[in-house]
Amino acid sequence: MVRVLQNKTILLGVTGSIAAYKAAGLASQLTQAGAAVDVVMTRAATQFIGPLTFEALTRRHVVTDVMALLPDSQIWHVAMAKRADIFVIAPATAHTIAKLAHGLADDAVSATALDASRRAPLVIAPAMETGMWEHAATQENIAKLVARGAVIVPPGEGHLASGASGTGRLANADDLIDTIRAVLGRGGDLARRVIVVTAGGTQEPIDPVRVLANHSSGKMGWALAQAARDRGARVILIAGTTSLRVPRGVELMAASSAREMREAVLRAIVDADALVMAAAVADFRPAQTAEQKIKKGNTETLTLELVKNPDILADVARHSSRPAVVIGFAAETQELLVNARAKLESKNLDLIVANPVPSAFGSDIDRATLIERGGAATELPPLTKEDLSEKILDFIAARLKT
Ligand code: C5P
Repeated sequence: MVRVLQNKTILLGVTGSIAAYKAAGLASQLTQAGAAVDVVMTRAATQFIGPLTFEALTRRHVVTDVMALLPDSQIWHVAMAKRADIFVIAPATAHTIAKLAHGLADDAVSATALDASRRAPLVIAPAMETGMWEHAATQENIAKLVARGAVIVPPGEGHLASGASGTGRLANADDLIDTIRAVLGRGGDLARRVIVVTAGGTQEPIDPVRVLANHSSGKMGWALAQAARDRGARVILIAGTTSLRVPRGVELMAASSAREMREAVLRAIVDADALVMAAAVADFRPAQTAEQKIKKGNTETLTLELVKNPDILADVARHSSRPAVVIGFAAETQELLVNARAKLESKNLDLIVANPVPSAFGSDIDRATLIERGGAATELPPLTKEDLSEKILDFIAARLKT
């Protein structure tokens, strides 16, 4: 479940592109994430995929006819436009985009869009052949819609239905959902706040091919960054090593070693309201990085000399631009609460999130205890990283209010 999608009605317009079948996956993912999804289709879209598919996935009536009436004789598409929190057209054909730009309303999608636009933000994900996408007519229509406030999720590059390769593929579902979440979250309780989140592990080079690394997956920081974006914040995500997809609607800074991460953090906190250090930063690095690959030769052992890395949070604590709220993580194998409290003090944190190892790394569920500065420890039940993120952001939002 995604908090910003709860109790939201997403109107999904599907138009006649071959990518229409991908809208079924999108409708299903949004429904599973907790949204109510109302689908409207153009007649051409129904030639690519049946309304029944959407009706079964969303468990809601699908409108394909602009003239359709509800049992109480209300006009279906008008009723749908009224209850929508956001209108997403995916895929949007060149034809539908042209109709929207000019205010035509002769099918269920364009008629609903004209009506819904007064209150529901419009998100458009075009999908078409490269030539159609690049044509001046389409680009002018897109510019018109952007000027009116529409959010465009631009098409990607790759294989097209014609067999050609080029720009025109429907944006992938995760990017679309990120955009929907970000648009719905505008004006949330962290609007106009700047939140810096670090995520993932660091890598300390031994030689050109080897590194000292750790098991951090980056999932916690990713969940935090997405949840903060969904509450309206401007998010700067400082990412160490991770294989996760870059979320849309956050600003990414890459930092592979602890020293790079320190530089990035000190740059990013200048205007920040809060810093959450979810990254697993290496405490030590090799004293020297060999210029050439270390050969195994005839020796049976190899000794690496390590030197201490800077403690980023300790540096932030002393910094003139220390954000109003600073949060650290403590992953510990023993004496969790004692060690976590000691870190809270020594790094001058407002809150520390204590995780017992091994449960923290790579898993989707976290066991955590939140310890506030000078306050009580709250042991949370096992939570998804998404839900734990919301608890941490509740703390930030409350602190920033006071
Ligand atoms: O001291 P320890 O590394 O166990 O503390 C963990 C917390 O401190 C995490 O929030 C981590 O991101 C941060 N940290 C840091 N600089 C380091 C090491 C860890 O800011 N060099």
